[in-house]
Amino acid sequence: MSKPTFYITTPIYYPSNKLHIGHSYTTVAADAMSRYKRLRGYDVMFLTGTDEHGQKIERRAAEEGVTPQAFVDNIVDWIKDLWKTMDISYDKFIRTTDEDHKVTVQKIFKALYDKGDIYKSEYEGMYCTPCETFFTEHQLVDGKCPDCGRPVEKVKEESYFFKLSKYQDRLIKHIEDHPEFIQPQTRQNEMLNNFLRPGLEDLCVSRTSFKWGIPVEFDTNHVVYVWLDALSNYISALGYGSDNQELYNKFWPADVHLVGKEIIRFHTIIWPAILMALDLPLPKQVFGHGWLVIDGGKMSKSKGNVVDPSVLVNRYGSDAIRYFLLREIAFGQDGNFTNEALISRINSDLANDLGNLTSRTVAMIEKYFEGGVLPEVHEGNEFDADVQQIITEQIAKMEANMEKLFFNNALEDIWVIIRRFNKYIDETMPWVLAKDEANKAKLAGVLYTLAEGLRIVSIMIEPFMPRTPELIWEQIGLTRGELTAWDTIHTWGTMPNTVHAKKGTNMFPRIDKEKELAELEAAMKATQAAAAPQEEKPAKPKKEEITIDDFGKVELKVGEVIECEHVLKADKLLVSKIKIGDEVRQIVSGIAKYYTPEEFVGRKVVVVTNLKPVKLRGILSEGMVLCASDDEGNLVAVGPLGEMVDGAEVK
Ligand code: MSP
Repeated sequence: MSKPTFYITTPIYYPSNKLHIGHSYTTVAADAMSRYKRLRGYDVMFLTGTDEHGQKIERRAAEEGVTPQAFVDNIVDWIKDLWKTMDISYDKFIRTTDEDHKVTVQKIFKALYDKGDIYKSEYEGMYCTPCETFFTEHQLVDGKCPDCGRPVEKVKEESYFFKLSKYQDRLIKHIEDHPEFIQPQTRQNEMLNNFLRPGLEDLCVSRTSFKWGIPVEFDTNHVVYVWLDALSNYISALGYGSDNQELYNKFWPADVHLVGKEIIRFHTIIWPAILMALDLPLPKQVFGHGWLVIDGGKMSKSKGNVVDPSVLVNRYGSDAIRYFLLREIAFGQDGNFTNEALISRINSDLANDLGNLTSRTVAMIEKYFEGGVLPEVHEGNEFDADVQQIITEQIAKMEANMEKLFFNNALEDIWVIIRRFNKYIDETMPWVLAKDEANKAKLAGVLYTLAEGLRIVSIMIEPFMPRTPELIWEQIGLTRGELTAWDTIHTWGTMPNTVHAKKGTNMFPRIDKEKELAELEAAMKATQAAAAPQEEKPAKPKKEEITIDDFGKVELKVGEVIECEHVLKADKLLVSKIKIGDEVRQIVSGIAKYYTPEEFVGRKVVVVTNLKPVKLRGILSEGMVLCASDDEGNLVAVGPLGEMVDGAEVK
């Protein structure tokens, strides 16, 4: 018989080399669920990836002087490394720049257009001419451009629209008929009352004002705008619309889309409407989790308070961080992140509860029994029935909580067992039993109960803490196999009587809180400071080798700066008039931090003269002044080393 399937997704992340602990939260949660389902015998598809198109990326790449593709490639490698560090076991990593994704999006666009659900009209928005960017009224700051602070104007741009409004009634009905569709429940009312019932407007799904996107196949001035591109990843990743729809047929509809609360709306209104328009089944559930906040506010790089997950993983290991994220915060609600809470959790739950149970059990078996091996003959005691009953009850609760994605409750269910077992040690007092040879079978029974309990616990924690179980197994003589399979936790006494114990390394050493807090704070400050400029400047990818013919395409000439001034409200830019032989070019350069206009006038520089003119902050720039810059942020303009007339060719 084929296995049941389970398809879970995270949102696809915007490429940023500064994904923080909040981003890791969604991915860790999806990973725990995927691992749990795999352990329960499901054929799992766990999808994550990156959302790589848009004007912002196009701009940042231009600022870096690299192509948007090179820019995102570099960051995606970094993100994949981060997920490796966090032990994220995704089955597929989709990038919206993947060729097959692009083709699928184009097919979806065309199908919706042919059906009449996408139509051409005009997008009306607030436009900042210098920044060449559209904003919604909502994005404006005091009615002005949020980027440069200058006035904006109402303008129209030709766009394609998706008939979202057409699906309003069907969406309302679907949500009302399927109470499990939007979780947690409170989000359901929010969607119905705040968005659906007041009425939906059609959605702009194409743009002509930037190029970095998937071109509309039959109207290539347009690129597909944001959500249609991004949301389609959930089916394009399965090969929907391609020659091989095997995965799509196997896994769609998704069991759960895990998303942060700010994007629930897109996933429970726009995405289902697109699927309805395509006559495809809707995902079974969209679960909107809360945010990880710092001092009650959102983590953000501008506030300089983002927590770098790598710093934490390096200090405490990924299992501890994963445990903390899923245990401390009620999934669905916001939760405060503090270093103090993290260290307290590690000390109390991991070092004290789990660490002590393991080390005490193993140490006592080693101490009281020859070679650390329990004898075949065991005798029970009056506390056994209670611990076994608690195990049965807690397993049932834990499994039920996992189905609801209540990770923090599921972990608490496991910790009830761990704490009960620590109490069992105090109740049975093995050190007293060990004093009398006549109690050997009773002592063996107590230590077996502890080892068997530990085995069950070690299996139950695996979805959350994939590394720790093996460390426990090594200490109670197990390796991954039949005795560590999930189903065995339902049968008490699965482990053979002759447990072999062997002390291992301390899994979770107790942390000196005061000392650690100071060190951790310093480590975080250092990465925050280091990361700030990096956000703007990811490591530059090496450029491809070129031929002399390629180089010959670039026209370089000596020019003399004859006029220069600051660009209004653009701190970084100078605009220069540069004489190149018998012509004068206007060129905008990002050098205002390095030269005053007075310093720059009179210099001989090297100019790229056959570069396509562009507008920077609304000012025409007809070429580029060559500059050398290093990683420390120093920059100098490049010029001829000796006397040379302007207009002379550089080659
Ligand atoms: N690209 C879109 C999603 C498109 S899905 C078709 C996006 N990307 S994102 O990188 O901004 O966010 C990815 C996920 O990280 C979102 O679910 C978001 O809620 C989550 N988080 C970002 N900061 C967070 C916290 N501080 N806390 C918890 N989750 C947070 O949105």
